[in-house]
Amino acid sequence: MTSRDTHRWMVRNVNVVTPVEVVRDGYVTIRDGIIEHVGTTPAGEEATLPSVDGQGSWLLPGFIDLHNDAIEKEIEPRPNAFIPVEIAFFALEHRLVSHGVTSIYHSLSFASNEFGVRSLDRVETIVRELHSLGAAGRIRHLVHGRYEITDERACDVLAPLIDDGFIDLLSLMDHTPGQGQFRQLEDYANFMSATYQRDRTEIAKFVEQKQAVREVAALAYIERLTCKAKARGIRIASHDDDTARKVQMMQERGITLSEFPVTLEAARAATESEMGVIVGAPNVVRGGSTSNNLKASDAILNGVAQILCSDYMPSSILHAVFTLHFRHGMPMYEAVNMASLNPARALGLESTSGSISPGKLADFSLVRLHQKTPIVERVFVGGTQVLYVGDGAHKRAVQPAKQGVVQS
Ligand SMILES: [Fe+2]
Repeated sequence: MTSRDTHRWMVRNVNVVTPVEVVRDGYVTIRDGIIEHVGTTPAGEEATLPSVDGQGSWLLPGFIDLHNDAIEKEIEPRPNAFIPVEIAFFALEHRLVSHGVTSIYHSLSFASNEFGVRSLDRVETIVRELHSLGAAGRIRHLVHGRYEITDERACDVLAPLIDDGFIDLLSLMDHTPGQGQFRQLEDYANFMSATYQRDRTEIAKFVEQKQAVREVAALAYIERLTCKAKARGIRIASHDDDTARKVQMMQERGITLSEFPVTLEAARAATESEMGVIVGAPNVVRGGSTSNNLKASDAILNGVAQILCSDYMPSSILHAVFTLHFRHGMPMYEAVNMASLNPARALGLESTSGSISPGKLADFSLVRLHQKTPIVERVFVGGTQVLYVGDGAHKRAVQPAKQGVVQS
């Protein structure tokens, strides 16, 4: 390619959030989809480049969301009410891109009839469909396979998907009551009936099966899947760690991420072992856990959590970043790193993505505030604009006129 063929442009008049500071009233030049330069006053040839005027907005790196399970609810919004995957895919993508997410790891549970979409055949089809739909997406779509270690059939469904390259991140879950997320049987029963509309007979059956499999076969399933994942360079997360002992056991198996640790002790042990600790952004936004477990902001402010994921709420990373900054006084660049550079590092992607730095993919968003609530106005992926709602569009929104009163 000659220099004539290169496409070079800039975003100016923005507060650029880099990994180490905020460059006030700055600009960024982009060449062929790659960030070229970050500065404050464009000079010479740069000053003549075609430009997007950010009008004083924030320029944030695209968020890399390692765990969002909203695709399950988008596909099956009510038990046994299924929506075509393609419709669910584009609907959810719009919600994600509208909140600054540029790489999404769709989290799908491989847990037979217990969680998520209620059939293993269907989960397998969904993963394959997501894979092909990804090429038509505006953002980067990947798959996070969540394996419930007490599920006897799911291992056989997930293993070939790993072999065939359809899984980009693997996690190991154990929702057996008495440990982890549900330390009391009653907590598990309440969650299963409220979230998945399970009746008490079904719940009792799940518990009995889980306890039996956990004792005899779970370790073999874990071994089989983790070996396959490691052979392909797929990172593995442990889910709902509750003790330092469990973290240590996971680390010994080559697991490098701890997602949703339920105690400060587990989060600290994982951090000290140099595992990446992922916490839920909705927990930060709400100010606590829905299961009365670890408060994510406590873990973050204690330096034992480094990564935000949107979990069940696609808009939550954006709001958690600004909550950490405005409510908890965290420097903006540190809060933003939790949604971009830190997840990129956790997956070994930091040389090409995860921050507004020269040489990296031009994945970023322009964000304006309504008071302290962030609103995304533009998003770029690989230097291509994939969302534009209009500069200051929210300011043009007016309240519906009261009956009989014409607003001026
Ligand atoms: Fe969990």
